Amino acid sequence: MCGIVGYIGGRDAQPILLQSLRRLEYRGYDSCGIAVLASTIKVHKDVGRVEQLEKALPKNKGKLGIGHTRWATHGKPSKSNAHPHIDCSGKIAVVHNGVIDNFQQLRDKLTQEGHRFRSDTDSEVMPHLIESYYQGDLEQAVRRALVDVHGSYSLIVLAANHKELLVARNESPLVVGVGDGENFVASDVPALLDYTDRVIYLEDGDVGVITDDEIRLFNQAGEVRRETNVIPWTMEDAQKGGYDHFMLKEIHEQPRVIRDTLGGYLSAIEPEVDLGLESTEFEDILLLACGTSYHAGLVGRYLLEKVARIPVRVEIASEFNHSNAVLGETWVIGITQSGETADLLGAIKKAKQMGCKTLAITNCVGSSATRIADQTFYIRAQPEIGVAATKSFIAQLIALYLLALSQAKMDIRSREGLIRELRLLPDKVQLILDGEDGISKYGKYLSTYDNAFFVARGINFPVALEGALKLKEISYIHAEAYPAGELKHGPFALLTPDTPVIAIAAGDDTYEAMLTNIKEIKARESPVIALADEADEDIDKFVDYVIRVPSVAPIFSPVINSVVLQLLAYYAAKERGCSIDMPRNLAKSVTVK
Ligand code: G6P
Repeated sequence: MCGIVGYIGGRDAQPILLQSLRRLEYRGYDSCGIAVLASTIKVHKDVGRVEQLEKALPKNKGKLGIGHTRWATHGKPSKSNAHPHIDCSGKIAVVHNGVIDNFQQLRDKLTQEGHRFRSDTDSEVMPHLIESYYQGDLEQAVRRALVDVHGSYSLIVLAANHKELLVARNESPLVVGVGDGENFVASDVPALLDYTDRVIYLEDGDVGVITDDEIRLFNQAGEVRRETNVIPWTMEDAQKGGYDHFMLKEIHEQPRVIRDTLGGYLSAIEPEVDLGLESTEFEDILLLACGTSYHAGLVGRYLLEKVARIPVRVEIASEFNHSNAVLGETWVIGITQSGETADLLGAIKKAKQMGCKTLAITNCVGSSATRIADQTFYIRAQPEIGVAATKSFIAQLIALYLLALSQAKMDIRSREGLIRELRLLPDKVQLILDGEDGISKYGKYLSTYDNAFFVARGINFPVALEGALKLKEISYIHAEAYPAGELKHGPFALLTPDTPVIAIAAGDDTYEAMLTNIKEIKARESPVIALADEADEDIDKFVDYVIRVPSVAPIFSPVINSVVLQLLAYYAAKERGCSIDMPRNLAKSVTVK
């Protein structure tokens, strides 16, 4: 994680760096800093957000600079651990995203050679290492230093007396923004969109020399050409648009996101799904993901097994990376909003090494996952800024419905019936959004508790997991999710009148069993809020509160119920005054393992 930015051109660098850093704060926001080259390198950094740093900054003049917003890995958030880091001479400044695995070894060696370190970070070895090889040629010094480094990095180097920025990438994202008489560098596209829509994605192993009118990239084979891409969305797509928070805006975008994702792959007239994928021979499917995307994968298992009758496993990517998994003719599908999650990228690479065909389902065009996997299936959620994933989760579900339908083993009428229902989902989600006020009062109610349980059965169990994750990550209320049938195997011990339970009582074949579980919960006097179909006339007798959801075919209930749980979490967090778009200790794109 962490976000890095760089600027070189004819304008003052400082305001551009600060603006770009603000755009990257979703990548980490515990501290930040900039370095601007005036007559000497001026470094300013501190704990806290970019806004605070800006207030304390003198107006530095300088047409070259770098910046960083941090999500701490090595060393706590502090002024000394914030980037940029500089060498002993104060002439080389570096911002880094990633993890230098052998930093301790390098630090010991450099310390013996007389270098003095000021931080606890792994990143600080970089300016010192470059300094140790520097003999007037910055490019040579950076290249030589990188030979010694093991780990992941995207980095930008600024040096006194050099009218160039040096950049390098290995397993952490880096893009160059192409301007006229100026160039930009950043971890991700949103940082560049205020200035240019033309970007070049660096590949692993690339080193670049960036001046105001030239971008030269090299890999081990020599100089390389990388394509310039035009980004099809604008910064407006990533603005709050009148909502209090990005998260709420993104929740409200979901009807549009469903339409866009369907529209890309579903014929407007015929009930035909075309994902544009080359056909792959496979015996089973392995879905890999992290966080919210993992929960989408768990729903995907139910869908693919039910609709496509394919054996499916789902694994958390970081666990798969350390497993002794046995894969045969397995189609490995990585689900990732950002396309940059380090654990997931590692997992796709491992699957490829094992000879499996791979597919990435992602939101981000040109992201690392798209370049590693054999094929890509884009969801069409557009940029998601809130750290807590919402619209990308719903778009991932839609992608998994489409995938299941593209492989369907069922009679034509049933398949066409499902496609008809799928097309109705945007309107059904809109109905929930129209009833937001009713849901918000339950969010406020939850905000008064310290603990909450989410229970469900079948295809809605992953929705309960996602609902609990949303609540804990943005409101800091401790939330657990269980398959309703499992409560009696332990969690019952925690049920008290102070433990509200959110129970998803979907109108499918799990309904009767859910009612039994709800009665068991009520016997322990926990307040129960049920999510139930609008046509359910019985549920009120058994629970304290009911949130009605529009009727849909049971297989689509995860979409409907997830939107309700997103709103519940949002209003609980809002009532508690939490930092909803940037929850403590979290980041949107987790590029460290
Ligand atoms: C982080 C984000 C989550 C996200 C997870 C996986 O933890 O905060 O919202 O679900 O990473 O990210 P990905 O981009 O791979 O879906």
